[in-house]
Amino acid sequence: MGQQEQLRVGIIGCGAGIFHLEGYQSEPRAKVVALAGLDTDRCESLAKKFDIPRIYREYQDLLAQDDIDAVSVAVPNILHLPVALAAFEAGKHVLIEKPLARNAEEGVKMVEAAKAHGKLLGISFQRRTRHDVQLLRQQFEAGTFGRVYYSKAWWMRRSGIPGLGTWFTSKEAAGGGPLIDLGVHVLDMILYVLGNPKVVSVSASTYAEIGTQGKGGWVGQKRQKLKENQEYEVEDLATAFIRFEDGGTLLLEASWAAFTEMGDDFGIQIYGSKGGARIFSKDYALTDTLDVYSGFGDTTMDSKPRLVATGGHAEIIRGFVNAILEGKPLSPEGHEGLDRVRLIDAIYRSAELGREILIDQEIVDAAAD
Ligand SMILES: NC(=O)c1ccc[n+]([C@@H]2O[C@H](COP(=O)([O-])OP(=O)(O)OC[C@H]3O[C@@H](n4cnc5c(N)ncnc54)[C@H](O)[C@@H]3O)[C@@H](O)[C@H]2O)c1
Repeated sequence: MGQQEQLRVGIIGCGAGIFHLEGYQSEPRAKVVALAGLDTDRCESLAKKFDIPRIYREYQDLLAQDDIDAVSVAVPNILHLPVALAAFEAGKHVLIEKPLARNAEEGVKMVEAAKAHGKLLGISFQRRTRHDVQLLRQQFEAGTFGRVYYSKAWWMRRSGIPGLGTWFTSKEAAGGGPLIDLGVHVLDMILYVLGNPKVVSVSASTYAEIGTQGKGGWVGQKRQKLKENQEYEVEDLATAFIRFEDGGTLLLEASWAAFTEMGDDFGIQIYGSKGGARIFSKDYALTDTLDVYSGFGDTTMDSKPRLVATGGHAEIIRGFVNAILEGKPLSPEGHEGLDRVRLIDAIYRSAELGREILIDQEIVDAAAD
């Protein structure tokens, strides 16, 4: 495609697909020309709102359109692999929603298919583009914090199981609970800030204590109930202690439902030999979220850098379009999505075994089982 041409995009999935539609609105070099989704009413109202000329039900029908260059894929996790493979087969670039896939085995197939077809595989780790995360990444790299030896990443909801009784709470359809849904975002934030340190071991536990009682859905949303005799199949809280090759460690917590203060809060924290910092985002705040801990003369100093509100799908889409049209390096991309899913696999494996596991050895052993 010539450099001046406009990219033609299809959106598959009419739930989180709206974030992509909004993102493409601020990208003049791309135009959304089609939508696909089984929930026709929701797709029709999106098509109307965003003035999209074509709607399909099945993703295969959208992918059969020759004039579409790239697709955003926002479907249940179980479909990430088949939709991405079909899209590459049809010659499209793919921007996939997080998590990359339900597990690393699927993720590898997606990364390999992108390579085999010479197409790009982007992933919506949009929180990485937040101003607070970008600042920490730059300052980590500049050595501001000295040696960062300890870190935390968390996303804790009091009552926010998405879609109780839908694909979200099916192990088969989702691959897991809050760890793969929310944990993947904060894992990406912290590992990105720390420059993707090599993980050597993981000790984790998962719990299903609230969802299994049929409780913990979004407060006030009537539709989210388990059906009669339907089981809640995934965890509602996960915690992990992760060791890096350089001796540093990371503590992770992710919950959809837990008896704690009301909120939907996420963040990361780093502890270094010369300074530290914490991002704490309450209810998705984008500004006033960063605290930096340093020294000043013979005393301590806490400061709050002034932030601008960035960090949505628009930034991810700009990077995706830049990569397709201008050949700029794509970040975040498939490999990073795969790294995160590999770590998530290890966390679930450790929780299942009830002990610490060594990544290189035991994950390879598990894959061979
Ligand atoms: N990046 C983020 O912040 C973010 C936020 C929410 C969801 N997500 C991710 O987006 C994905 C979808 O989540 P959701 O909340 O939108 O789920 P959802 O259930 O609300 O929507 C799923 C969509 O997929 C469509 N779909 C299912 N099967 C299809 C098929 N065969 N052909 C065409 N369309 C089909 C459905 O019709 C629906 O429109 C998940 O992977 C989730 O993790 C990401």
